[in-house]
Amino acid sequence: MSLSRRAVLRGGLGFAAASLTPTILQARTVTGYAHAEIDARLALGKGLNGLTKADLTTPALLLDLDLLDANIAKLAAFAKNANINLRPHGKTHKCPEIAHRQMKAGALGLCVATIREAEAMASAGIKGLLITSELVGKPKIDRLVKLMRRAPDTMTVVDHPVHAQQLNEAAAAAKVRFNVLLDVDPAGRRTGVPAGDEALKLAEAVAKLPNLKLRGIHGYSGASAHVNTFDARRAHSVKVMTPVLETFQRLKKAGFPLELMSGGSTGTYNIDPSLEGMTELQCGSYVFMDVEYRGIGGKTGPVYDDFASSLTVMGTVISKLYQDRATVDAGIKAFAKDRKFDADVKGITGVSFAAGSDEHGTLLLQNPSREIKLGDRVEFIVPHCDPNLNLYDRIYCVRGENVVDVWRTVGRYGD
Ligand SMILES: Cc1ncc(COP(=O)(O)O)c(C=O)c1O
Repeated sequence: MSLSRRAVLRGGLGFAAASLTPTILQARTVTGYAHAEIDARLALGKGLNGLTKADLTTPALLLDLDLLDANIAKLAAFAKNANINLRPHGKTHKCPEIAHRQMKAGALGLCVATIREAEAMASAGIKGLLITSELVGKPKIDRLVKLMRRAPDTMTVVDHPVHAQQLNEAAAAAKVRFNVLLDVDPAGRRTGVPAGDEALKLAEAVAKLPNLKLRGIHGYSGASAHVNTFDARRAHSVKVMTPVLETFQRLKKAGFPLELMSGGSTGTYNIDPSLEGMTELQCGSYVFMDVEYRGIGGKTGPVYDDFASSLTVMGTVISKLYQDRATVDAGIKAFAKDRKFDADVKGITGVSFAAGSDEHGTLLLQNPSREIKLGDRVEFIVPHCDPNLNLYDRIYCVRGENVVDVWRTVGRYGD
């Protein structure tokens, strides 16, 4: 019996999928599907029925679920052993399914960067949200009020008395109370009140506002996360975080009932738990890993491989006319280009990559470990995972060659 998988995906066959599977697998017919066709199949609850990577139209964002699960389990076990809580950052993945896996592994909540992410994660049933960027201005504060009604344990950050006042007024008018963390700056000068006296003054101002509940301190050092070599990274984090932790102790001694001291990153996950008073880590990138993180160096070697690169962009070789180069269909639009370096080619050595033009990328074939032919699929580890993820509205989940699920990304810019 000859059955095309397109027909199977369309659900136009009148007998059980299980009886079809062997035929489909034997046929190994590669078929192209539009996203909508795959969505329709899933919406009907019919599963993916033997869909493989080869069937996907490229560029496509792939997530290796075995590696993802291993990353989540590894950090969860580490945190348990180090006696520190996890509130991983959802800005990296924007994906409720991943958030649920992190919660199942023991996380006490999820950090998010925007009100849109917070709303989307709350809609997906994620509890314990901490919005780590200041929500300034009426449009965002109004949305926070609405969010508090359905996710009352949500927390937000503040670094200025005027902002605190505005939050308090909106909360009073809506008869809600906002949970607030004082955003204290580990010398990064992005957001956050300076540690020490100024933080104390802001804490006093916040404590006087009846519709704000001061729960703790948020202190995130983005500048420490990617410092090269473990020792230099540890020295950096200890240096910039110590005044933040001292402020935390000082406020507690002054009588502020602070429960949470939240910060940390994938780069400092095994450094920050030793800072006295730190109660939780906000690691984000560890779920995916990217070229930038792999390059910072680990405890034992030049590659930071504590976590595995689970996220790739898959492209197709669409032109192969020269001995020393090939062109793939993954270019600038397939990768976030905010870093000076490009994607790494996964699983092939002796090849470098430049995502040089809108829809085209160049593979330079110095001494490729395998032959590169027209039509070949090539996977790329992305340069910087967070903005790269934000380019895609769906993630194709894979185990080996099989596509086993499709997860939507939520709260993207433009959504
Ligand atoms: C406030 C905050 N916390 C945590 C993180 C997670 O950092 P990483 O992805 O390096 O683990 C980020 C990332 O930018 C962040 O902005």
